[in-house]
Amino acid sequence: MASIKISGLEKRFHTVHVLKGLDLAIEDGEFISFLGPSGCGKSTLLFCIAGLEEINEGTIRFDGRDITDLGPRERNIALVFQDYALYPHMSVRENIAFPLRQQKLDDGTIGKQVAWAADVLGIEALLDRLPAELSGGQRQRVAVGRAIVRNPSVLLMDEPLSNLDASLRVRMRTEIRKLQKELGITVIFVTHDQEEAMVLSDRIAVMKDGIVQQFAAPMEVYNHPANRFVAGFIGSPQMNFLPAELCGATAGHVVGVRPHDLKPGTVPGGLTLSGELMLVEPAGPFQFLDVAVGGHVVRATCSDPAGLSPGERITLSAGADAVRYFAADTGLRLTPSVTETESRLHAL
Ligand SMILES: Nc1ncnc2c1ncn2[C@@H]1O[C@H](COP(=O)(O)OP(=O)(O)OP(=O)(O)O)[C@@H](O)[C@H]1O
Ligand SMILES: [Mg+2]
Repeated sequence: MASIKISGLEKRFHTVHVLKGLDLAIEDGEFISFLGPSGCGKSTLLFCIAGLEEINEGTIRFDGRDITDLGPRERNIALVFQDYALYPHMSVRENIAFPLRQQKLDDGTIGKQVAWAADVLGIEALLDRLPAELSGGQRQRVAVGRAIVRNPSVLLMDEPLSNLDASLRVRMRTEIRKLQKELGITVIFVTHDQEEAMVLSDRIAVMKDGIVQQFAAPMEVYNHPANRFVAGFIGSPQMNFLPAELCGATAGHVVGVRPHDLKPGTVPGGLTLSGELMLVEPAGPFQFLDVAVGGHVVRATCSDPAGLSPGERITLSAGADAVRYFAADTGLRLTPSVTETESRLHAL
C-alpha cells in the first residue's frame, strides 16, 4: 500500500520523446487505469514506475519517499504482464513461490504465503499442475498470485486481460476489483479498453502522445471530458462531433453530443438536427440510427423504431445539458453558461 507521486517525468528512447512532462498523484489504495490508444506511452509509464525503465527527468515518490534511483526490487512493486510470463517448466506452486525464493525466505513462510495467495484466488486445486495444463483464466490467476504473494505496496498490471475471451474478461475484471478491495492495495491497470477502465477504476488517466489529457473519476471523464480527444475516446458508440454552423453554435466551436442523448423528436430548448435516415441498426434493447445531417453522419438511438424507414427525413434532438462544446482549434472543452447554451440552441 502506497501513494505514488510522479512529477515532471520525461522519458525518451534516443530521439523518440515518449513521456512529456508528466505529473500524477495517486492516493494510497486507489485503483487507477492508464487508458489510451496504442503507442501513447502507457506501458512505458508503467515500466518507469516499476523501475524497469530509467527516466530522463523528473521524480517518482512512493509515500513521499523519492524512489527515482531505486531498482525494481527495492520498490516493493509487483508486475503482471499481458502474456503472464509464467515459467513453463515450474508447477503453479513453484511459479507463485518464485518471488519468495528469490528473497530467500524459509520453506515454512513460503508454504504459508503460497497457500494464502492460492486461497485468495481460488486456485488451491491447481497448485501441482504445469502452466500448459491450465486455461487462460487460470493462468491469469496464477500470474496475479505470483504478483500478490509478496504483499507488494503497488500492483502494476499491463493489459492483463487482453488474452482472454470476452466473457472471461468480464469475470476476471470483477475478480481483480474484488481482490484489490480486499487487499487494500494500490493498483495501476493499463488498458486501451475504455469500458474496462470505466468499470474498474477509481480514477482514469486518459493518455495521448505521452501526455495525460485528463485524470479523473470515470463518470467525471464521461460527463465532463477535458477535450475533444477524451470525449471521443470514452463512450461507445463514439460521441458525434459537428461543426458549429450545423448546430447554431458560435463559429470556431465543435459541438459534441453522445448517440445515447440524441433521439428522434424535439426537446424544448435543446439541440435539434434534421436529416435523412440512412440506417437502422438493432442493438438489443434499442436501435442505433445513422442520419445524414449536412454531409455528416450522425449516430442517434431510438427505443422504438416502428414507422422509421431509411430514406425518410427525420428530426433528432438532445437536451441542452447533453450538448458539449469544444474549441475547433485546440479541442479544449468550453463551458458556456446555461443561458448562453440555451440562447445558442434557441437560435436554430
Ligand atoms: N525500447 C524502446 N525503444 C524505442 N522506442 C520505444 C521503446 N519502447 C517503446 N517505444 C516507443 O514508445 C512509444 C510508447 O510505447 P508504449 O509501449 O509505452 O505504448 P503503449 O501505450 O503501451 O501501447 P500499446 O497499447 O500498443 O501497448 C511508442 O511509440 C513506442 O514505439
Ligand atoms: Mg503497452
